[in-house]
Amino acid sequence: MKVKLIIATIKPFKLEEVREALTGIGVRGMMVTEIKGFGSQSGHTEIYRGAEYAVNFVPKIKLELVVSSGMAEQVVETIKATAQTGKIGDGKIFVLDVAQAVRVRTGETDADAL
Ligand SMILES: Nc1ncnc2c1ncn2[C@@H]1O[C@H](COP(=O)(O)OP(=O)(O)OP(=O)(O)O)[C@@H](O)[C@H]1O
Ligand SMILES: [Mg+2]
Repeated sequence: MKVKLIIATIKPFKLEEVREALTGIGVRGMMVTEIKGFGSQSGHTEIYRGAEYAVNFVPKIKLELVVSSGMAEQVVETIKATAQTGKIGDGKIFVLDVAQAVRVRTGETDADAL
């Protein structure tokens, strides 16, 4: 696959530092969403009226970046280095293959679309 999707959750106060570091290595676009979630400690599940609910969601920022495959490792390393505090809840990084990317204005595809 020529392009990869990197989904990362980070602590909200780290957003600006991570954004600066990513633009510094040549990232040209990203999506940023305010989310709530849980990892291995903070969300315990409970049974309520027969269904299982996750409680104690914690606010996080979700980043989604589509980058050329050659850049993916550097992006992961940059997020890892800048988002890390060493305390619990520093986040997760997932890397996925992207079947196609298209720039709407020109019709360019894959790495040319980024
Ligand atoms: N398995 C997962 N699938 C999808 N999203 C996840 C998963 N684990 C964590 N997340 C997302 O990442 C956020 C941060 O998770 P977190 O850093 O607490 O993970 P963790 O495994 O508990 O690591 P740590 O031990 O450092 O806390 C969560 O709020 C959630 O949004
Ligand atoms: Mg956690």
